Amino acid sequence: MKKVLITGGAGFIGSHVVRRFIKNYPNYHIFNLDKLTYAGNLENLNDIDKSENYTFIKGDIVDSDFINNLFSEHKFDAVIHLAAESHVDRSITNPLEFIQTNIIGTVNLLQAAKVNWKDNEKGKLFYHVSTDEVYGSLRETGLFTEETSYDPRSPYSSSKASSDHLVRAYGNTYNLPFVISNCSNNYGPNQFPEKLIPLCINNIKNGKPLPIYGEGKNVRDWLYVEDHATAIDEVFHKGTQGETYNIGGHNEWTNIDIVKSLCDVMDKKLGNEAGTSQKLITFVKDRAGHDMRYAIDASKIEKDLNWKPSLQFKEGLSKTVDWYLNNNQWLDNVTSGNYQSYYDKQYS
Ligand code: NAD
Ligand code: TYD
Repeated sequence: MKKVLITGGAGFIGSHVVRRFIKNYPNYHIFNLDKLTYAGNLENLNDIDKSENYTFIKGDIVDSDFINNLFSEHKFDAVIHLAAESHVDRSITNPLEFIQTNIIGTVNLLQAAKVNWKDNEKGKLFYHVSTDEVYGSLRETGLFTEETSYDPRSPYSSSKASSDHLVRAYGNTYNLPFVISNCSNNYGPNQFPEKLIPLCINNIKNGKPLPIYGEGKNVRDWLYVEDHATAIDEVFHKGTQGETYNIGGHNEWTNIDIVKSLCDVMDKKLGNEAGTSQKLITFVKDRAGHDMRYAIDASKIEKDLNWKPSLQFKEGLSKTVDWYLNNNQWLDNVTSGNYQSYYDKQYS
């Protein structure tokens, strides 16, 4: 039985990766290590958490003794590292937490893998899941390739860039077998409703304003979360050690256009008169240091690993809205408490 440690498996993307691996690889034992911060939610895994090949471990990757003991106890064969503080706006108000989890947490995992795995041991792999935001901000043209120089510009992207560098440093210095992927913005079921798409779905449902930063002209390249999980599966199984793979949807949208589309989809599904939800759009103060445009050149993963996004955006958005409308309890549970106080502070 291969022992695979997935960190951050109770979060948005992690839960889709855990589910995929539990279902597709009964010969793997999946250990899901998660601190259960505001973004971690075990409800995301209700459907698989009784599986025989699954173990949940509550713990903090910043605690090095805990991580070292965990590795000695379980002798993991591979790590898929997703645990992170992941929201740019939170990184602007509280950068230190991002330094702790994203940098110190990653180095704790790398160090434990280095100590427990023999030099370049066959069959071992440290897979670091990262973001396209490490490459900085594009102007109107151009795409991020795997060769684009790093130019992170927010505390979040800088902390992720540092973690990417540390993974490569452990590979180069200690022969730690690794692979990295850098993905564009994800959307889909189970995303915490403080990120743009689920925040707007929740606000439309509740007739609340839809806050658009600045003029809404910033561009993001959106990928359905299950397509990211499929790409992670491909990179994990077929990726070449020491390589980086960019993952993206060839699906660029300005924020204002995406929110307008979402309004139209929601109006149809809720039986509202056309144009009702667009009236909620409210332009608010821009994010500090707001990156203008992200866009991924995914030709390497498409060519080398034969991966492609399976969903068109229209279909993905419709599936996402359906999921949020059909999962009121999930939404109510995560929008109470911590989220409410964050929301009041951010948009007051
Ligand atoms: P998320 O915020 O939804 O989930 C993060 C998970 O990590 C949560 O379950 C949380 O409890 C856990 N966690 C946080 N700090 C921890 C700690 N100290 N110890 C253990 N667990 C901890 O994030 P996400 O959107 O699912 O992103 C997952 C990964 O993918 C991150 O590394 C992120 O940088 C990367 N990524 C995200 C996107 C995106 O659009 N969301 C795009 C590209 C890459
Ligand atoms: P977000 O979902 O936070 O992802 P990221 O900052 O990692 O790209 O934001 C996506 C885009 O939407 C980004 O340009 C910021 C913008 N945005 C708003 O205009 N209003 C909001 O309330 C939020 C959360 C984001």
